[in-house]
Formats: sequence, C-alpha cells, structure tokens
Amino acid sequence: MIDISEAVMEAAPAHKGAAVEVHQLRKEFRRKDSRKRGEKRGERRSRVALDGVSFTMEKGETVAILGQNGSGKSTLVRLLSTLLLPDGGYARLLGHDVVEEPRAVRRLVNRVSVEASFFKKMSAAENLGYAARYYGMTSKDTRDEIPAILGRVGFPPDRRDEPMEALSRGMQQKVALARALLTSPVVLLLDEPTTGLDPRSKLEVQEFIREIRETHDSTILLCTHDLTEAEGLAERVGILDRGRLLALVPADDLKQRYGAETLEEAFFAATGREFAAEEDEDDDDREVFA
Ligand SMILES: Nc1ncnc2c1ncn2[C@@H]1O[C@H](COP(=O)(O)OP(=O)(O)OP(=O)(O)O)[C@@H](O)[C@H]1O
Ligand SMILES: [Mg+2]
Repeated sequence: MIDISEAVMEAAPAHKGAAVEVHQLRKEFRRKDSRKRGEKRGERRSRVALDGVSFTMEKGETVAILGQNGSGKSTLVRLLSTLLLPDGGYARLLGHDVVEEPRAVRRLVNRVSVEASFFKKMSAAENLGYAARYYGMTSKDTRDEIPAILGRVGFPPDRRDEPMEALSRGMQQKVALARALLTSPVVLLLDEPTTGLDPRSKLEVQEFIREIRETHDSTILLCTHDLTEAEGLAERVGILDRGRLLALVPADDLKQRYGAETLEEAFFAATGREFAAEEDEDDDDREVFA
C-alpha cells in the first residue's frame, strides 16, 4: 500500500523546514526635506536601511546578527515583526508573509528590544497578564506561571507590583524577556537583549536565552553588539554592513574564511571597519519612529 502522507511530504517545497525566509528585503527611509548644500530641489532624499537582504532560518535555529550602529539590525527586526513595511522583497515566518498576513505573523513572533512597549502605569505582573491573554492564555494558566517566569529572569520579587515606569531599564528588559518566554513564541526576535544590563544580569539573560533555545524549540534571531554572546548562543553568525548581509555562517567558518583568530578580526576583514566603532550618522534626520 502506498503511504500517502509520505508521498505528500516528499512533494513539499524545499523550504518546508524554514521558520524564517527573507528574500531581497529592502527598506528605505525618507529623510527630512531640509536640503543640504549642493542638492537640487526635488532631489530624492532617502537612506537605504536594508539593501536586498536574503537568508533563511531553520526551525529551532539561533542566528546572531552583528553590525555597527545604523547597519540595519533593528530595521530587519521591525520588518519581521510587522512594525514596518518593506519597500521591496519579502519576508515569511513559517510560510506567512509579513505584509499579507500580519496578524498570523504577530501571533508567531515576539520581539524583545530596548524600546519594548509596556503599559507604563501597570506593573510587571499586570503587563505579563495582559500579554498572556492576547496570546489566548487564561488567568488560571498564568497565576503560577507569571511569578515563576519573573523569578527565572532574576526580576526582584518585591518589585513585581510596582508600575513599569518606576523600574530601571535593565529590570524592564527582564520583564520584556519574561513576556517573550511566557507566550512561548515560535520565533523570537531579540534586538540587543543584554545591552545596558549589569554584568551579572547579562549572564543571567544569556543563560535564559540558552534555556529558551533548549526547552522551547524557538527559532531565535539575536541582534547584538556582544561578540561572545553571538559566538556562545548562535549556530550561525551574520554580518550586516550598511544594509547588506555579507555572510551568515557558523562563527568558526567566518573566522576561517577571513583567516582570523577572533570574530572581531573577521568582522574587520569583512567590512573594513572596526566592530566597536560608531557609524557617523545624523539621527535628527529621522522622520518617524517605529
Ligand atoms: N524610523 C526611521 N526613520 C528614519 N530613518 C531610520 C528609521 N529607523 C532607522 N533609520 C535609519 O536606518 C538605518 C538603520 O537603522 P537601524 O536602527 O536598523 O540600525 P541598527 O543596526 O539597529 O543600529 P544600532 O546598533 O544603533 O541599534 C540608520 O541609518 C537609521 O538612521
Ligand atoms: Mg538597533
């Protein structure tokens, strides 16, 4: 007898295992209309934040993206979480297109970033309760779960009921991570999850990300300025330079490719720029904040 399910599986598209598929993704931001010297009237003024980025991620894979300030990391994360619309190319999460099916995508992803949005007057516990309901969990599900998760990210128990606005940035960051874990995201987008944390909290959060990886089978995109974090947590490391993805391979392959001893050296060899150097850019040119 023919096993139909097997036959169907064989006919599935080549990317059946892909959790994230990004193809020629492009994003430009219009700049303010204050003309600079030498520019003609009506001249198009835009800044390319992502310049045709393509890659795929398998389910359960962790990928780290390295890049200087302004290289496009947060733009990529915002596009994948439907906060911005692309100007070209496409991105799909488990087959759902971010432009065509934003609702489906929003249920699959959770973004943790320094600008995480919370209800400021509500406490950490209340914010988590709200998120849990959005993802369809009942208060019965979350009664024990919320304190347990806050405990695991090292959030001080005596501050659980204080309004979010009274917490330090590091504490808020931990709540953002707790929220991400509570809702068991299929795809986790971590935009500099440890930036601004004290050394101990940083280690706790890194350990926690490792744990999510192992226990939840989440697919994780990690944008970071911390090379050790990238090397320690991700199966593949990507270099984003001025909106272009120069490589996305295991850290060891990256070093080998550029004959480098360290990731930092490999980054320099790939981009011609120091990893730690700041990009020189005029941020007052920003028109919108997404
Ligand atoms: N909302 C916006 N409006 C205008 N320009 C923007 C906007 N968001 C990003 N940009 C520009 O797009 C480029 C990429 O920015 P992005 O925030 O993605 O960089 P990044 O790699 O996350 O940098 P960082 O390491 O500083 O977080 C930059 O030149 C930035 O100024
Ligand atoms: Mg950023």
